[in-house]
Amino acid sequence: MDQIIVTGNGPLSGQIPIAGAKNACLTLMPATLLSEEPLTLTNAPRLSDIRTMTLLLQSLGAEVQALQDGQVLAMSSHDLTSTRAEYDIVRKMRASILVLGPLLARFGHAEVSLPGGCAIGARPVDLHLKAFEAMGAELDLRDGYVHAKAPAGGLKGGIVDFPFVSVGATENALMAATLAKGTTVLKNAAREPEIVDLAHCLRKMGAQIDGEGTSEITVQGVDRLGGATHRVVTDRIELGTYMLAPAICGGEVECLGGKIELLAAFCEKLDAAGISVEETPTGLKVARKSGRVSAVDVTTEPFPGFPTDLQAQMMALLCTAEGTSVLEEKIFENRFMHAPELIRMGAKIDVHGGTATVKGVDRLRGAPVMATDLRASVSLILAGLAAEGETIVSRVYHLDRGYEHVVRKLESVGAKIERVKEQ
Ligand code: UD1
Repeated sequence: MDQIIVTGNGPLSGQIPIAGAKNACLTLMPATLLSEEPLTLTNAPRLSDIRTMTLLLQSLGAEVQALQDGQVLAMSSHDLTSTRAEYDIVRKMRASILVLGPLLARFGHAEVSLPGGCAIGARPVDLHLKAFEAMGAELDLRDGYVHAKAPAGGLKGGIVDFPFVSVGATENALMAATLAKGTTVLKNAAREPEIVDLAHCLRKMGAQIDGEGTSEITVQGVDRLGGATHRVVTDRIELGTYMLAPAICGGEVECLGGKIELLAAFCEKLDAAGISVEETPTGLKVARKSGRVSAVDVTTEPFPGFPTDLQAQMMALLCTAEGTSVLEEKIFENRFMHAPELIRMGAKIDVHGGTATVKGVDRLRGAPVMATDLRASVSLILAGLAAEGETIVSRVYHLDRGYEHVVRKLESVGAKIERVKEQ
């Protein structure tokens, strides 16, 4: 297994290109299952989660070709051979459940293993299943699989009223509704940019969708969808992560492709902490010019609130802030697994339930630490950039799920970072 070694090395400067969004790509790829005609995605990120989704689609008989060094995914579901997503692949990634809606809508039946994914809380899929039930599907949980069956004649439009906001359930229901008979209304829908991106792509394929980006999405079902070519939206979580690099160790970095509208709540918190964020014609320029950052309180919320996927990285910044910050995690339980690792580096953090209190210290010190999930692993790298001495991060396979070329990108702005085989 590989390790990443980071040595605190002072201010950063330069540009970092931001990739296409992992989470958008993971819902755009299963959209291919809705149509016989080809779907091509450009600006795809090169990540292990994308390779896992590729394998899953291929196991169903879809053609998925990674072109231009993986940045273009040419897909066709013309000759699917199966509607069963097996445990062996699904267990590697929770987003695998996103094949259920498209398969059920197009073929009237599907079997999908219950998913695994990051160890950040229970993460059930009940909201996904309730949405399909509202469209007339019969669902049965047997042998670790969801067995789903549409009524004769296919899924029917219905009212889906989500009791709370779920990104994945909104995406699954949205895809399924495009081919349902009649009108489906998704109430209390997620508003994330990845949902908007999915709706744009589905519309190019011929779907009739209104209201994406608001909490009520209306879908008028159509008989069939066609092909399309679609560019994956910028990864706002990768963007926020790299914006924190100069915030943490000083300097000025432009994140290419970044836009404030993708991360407005996060940018407000950076501003309150004393970090300058400026929109340029090509991206977002982030600078930390003065001394220590100020403490800020952060509560994670569905979009447009502060994203849970940036909570760990923000905590790394606040470890060296002037004053005490309170971070409240409202989306996932058990999402402070980075805190004990940051404490090993000298941070002062108290965790009680879903609240972490971070008392800023002058300086973190390098230490051997362990990555526990995707976002936690990158928070340790960020902390290492600001620490005195060497930080050795193990279990970096988590990182490969969501960050392409992290060493190369940080090195290009002056960070001292290398990836080595574990001794
Ligand atoms: C997506 C993102 C993930 C991000 C999360 C919240 C992808 C591939 N992943 O995950 O990176 O952290 O949104 O922004 O896009 N829940 C239920 N029942 C359900 C579904 C969800 O109880 O059927 C709960 C979850 O356990 C969680 C909350 O709802 O507490 C929100 O989860 P959800 O928005 O569904 O997250 P994902 O789509 O899994």
